[in-house]
Amino acid sequence: MPANEPRTRLTRSRLRNLVVLATAAACAAAVASVPAQADGPLYTRAGAPVDLRVKDLLKRMTLDEKIGQMDQIAVARIQGDCEWSGGALNESCMKTVLADYPVGSVISGGGMAPAKNTPQDWATMVNAVQKYAITNSRLHIPIVYGVDGVHGHNNVLGATIFPHQIGLGATWDPGTVHDSAAATARAVAATGIDWNFAPVADLARDQRWGRYYETYGEDPLLAGTLAAAAVDGAEHAKGAKRVAATVKHFGGYSEPANGHDRVPADVSIRYLQDTLLPSYKQAVQSGAKSVMVNSGAVNGVPATASTYLLTKVLRQQWGFKGVTVSDWEDVRALQTRYKIAADYPEAIALAVNAGLDMAMEPYFAKEWSQGLRTAVDRRLVSQRRIDEAVSRILKMKFELGLFEHPYVDAAKADAAVNGADTGLARTAAAESQVLLRNEGGVLPVSPSAKRIVVAGSYADDINDQAGGWTIGWQGVPDGVTLPGTTILKGIREAAPAGTEVVQAKTADDAVAQAKNADLTIVVVGEKAAAEGAADSPRPELAADQQALVKSLKASGKPVVTVVVAGRPLVLGDAEGTQGLLMSWLPGTEGGHAVADVLFGKVNPSGRMPVSWPRNIGDEPMYYQQLPGTNGGPESSYDPLYAFGAGLSYTTYSFDALTADTKGVKVTVSNTGARDGDLVVPVYASRPVSDVLAPARKLVAFTKVHLRAGEHRTVRLDFAKSALAVTPGDIDGSGTPRVERGTYTFTAGDKSADVVLR
Ligand code: BGC
Ligand code: BGC
Repeated sequence: MPANEPRTRLTRSRLRNLVVLATAAACAAAVASVPAQADGPLYTRAGAPVDLRVKDLLKRMTLDEKIGQMDQIAVARIQGDCEWSGGALNESCMKTVLADYPVGSVISGGGMAPAKNTPQDWATMVNAVQKYAITNSRLHIPIVYGVDGVHGHNNVLGATIFPHQIGLGATWDPGTVHDSAAATARAVAATGIDWNFAPVADLARDQRWGRYYETYGEDPLLAGTLAAAAVDGAEHAKGAKRVAATVKHFGGYSEPANGHDRVPADVSIRYLQDTLLPSYKQAVQSGAKSVMVNSGAVNGVPATASTYLLTKVLRQQWGFKGVTVSDWEDVRALQTRYKIAADYPEAIALAVNAGLDMAMEPYFAKEWSQGLRTAVDRRLVSQRRIDEAVSRILKMKFELGLFEHPYVDAAKADAAVNGADTGLARTAAAESQVLLRNEGGVLPVSPSAKRIVVAGSYADDINDQAGGWTIGWQGVPDGVTLPGTTILKGIREAAPAGTEVVQAKTADDAVAQAKNADLTIVVVGEKAAAEGAADSPRPELAADQQALVKSLKASGKPVVTVVVAGRPLVLGDAEGTQGLLMSWLPGTEGGHAVADVLFGKVNPSGRMPVSWPRNIGDEPMYYQQLPGTNGGPESSYDPLYAFGAGLSYTTYSFDALTADTKGVKVTVSNTGARDGDLVVPVYASRPVSDVLAPARKLVAFTKVHLRAGEHRTVRLDFAKSALAVTPGDIDGSGTPRVERGTYTFTAGDKSADVVLR
């Protein structure tokens, strides 16, 4: 049964309470709103307190209308043939999804663009969906439109593509992350979209995992601090209508047992509490309006059905008040994949009762509606719980201003999105570069280098430089030209007059040309992909690329290797060139950014946000590995490049450190001849501890600008929670607490002890 018959119920008196734009075409260009009516229902009054508006609207809603609010459908279900063909919006499918079973939300999943992929067409499409929903739902409730803007508004052709999160992690700079998230939110908002499924607060610990690059790195504090900055940047972007950020994928998504995406994770409660959950907590507590649930299972329970995660931890312990949304089709998965529900209504009940507010149920609006209705009829789900979930969703919609400003001016979208914030994207990408080897000062490129050979198939490849989640879900689809600057192009533009830049066409050509070059820059990497397709059981540089670098090394001329990849690839034979620059997935401005660093316009300041394994088989690898009794080299933490590694064109010293129970004071100097930005990490270690402690654990960090010759003393406070551990034996599961005893705080080569009582 449809929720109601919206068309017949749209009476004249109700119509008077809102503005319904005359035609679908009109809304494309118009900036319209549902103005407050002094005599209209309370929920339509813009000035009324949100809680009262929510209550007022809720009491007017039928059960079926409430059920619809809890559903999110993919736009591909209302376009073209409504079966994933894409194309123009299809009126008859819109009727099913937005009127008969009026859903609360619509999502453009990876690659789901309007028929013509321009910012203006996006805004026109979103306006039209919104208009249909408002006009054809009985109470004229706007939908909230969601998208994965995970590195810029990345589905939109013409939008500036920022570095993927792993690169931003390498900046160790919350300011840059904040500003990048704000830029993304502005672009998202300009196309009429209100809800962004970013940031990712998962940790990168298993190099095999396909979503490694979507994280800020392996460390809880680094990832949590940057995710919190991203939430803040997205939700308070200047010059944009409001956008809700989403902390995903809560929680414990990132260590599937065998490295393959969405394979269940088995982790101890100690590891979960002390290591995996804190980054989500930091991001949630910075004010995120929504949280997306981990699609995987943890310790034998799918996260989507976990009351422990969704209610006990998230709501009761952390005080989260926003909306939880499932990941892709995950409520249904409780029945079809996980088989912990006998049918769909049971699956829905498990998720909703665990604390899920909205289901990303991309395919089936009617089935969702009937499924939850059946669950209510069978008394599996209470109306109270539905009211709670719907109240949260409506609250978010009111807070986003959707009732007052449901549309954007589509005519302004192109100007707002195309090429926006390229300066920021370039700075962010440059700041994300990690210089790992610089033998004999091969970098920055010497002005006396007259002939530079650029080799490797990733040198002139904008698509792989942008990575997955760019225009298409798996990366830029064939036939689409992504505007941007490749590394080759960046090098050509940056090279001084009189320096010849030669692109080697093949591996043989590269080897031949390198012999007569002053410098060879070889750009290697991995193919763009996303989620499971990006899993790599052997995360190493492909054999042909290793062979190329090996023969270039044999040329006897200096070689700089640039790696374009979402993870540290085992280098094998490619190891040991004079220069090594990790560029991550630097986006559309990446070519300029890489060249800025190669030619010394930017002094590199990026630091490894993850560990670089020496050998295949060392995964998962991370610096917080706990001590063991086998002293063999592969048994303890023995990376090729450690977490935090990174060189600069200047030199620094750590001159003094004092510590107390709240934080440390560190004096640092720039002892070289160039200005630079220095990451100052503070690690804690335990000479003796009750439960195993890693050799060091990041407890605070900052980034300081130091002019050549400058000294500076910085104070870094640490949150006590960064020191907390779950006490007890193997079955320890209590609340994490800070053990008494000695803590050694280290920054650079300086350290001090503090006794906590
Ligand atoms: C991913 C999410 C994403 C969602 C919508 C899922 O497959 O896991 O990160 O937000 O799709 O595209
Ligand atoms: C969508 C993605 C989504 C994925 C999940 C794709 O069709 O475009 O957004 O994450 O399916 O499997």
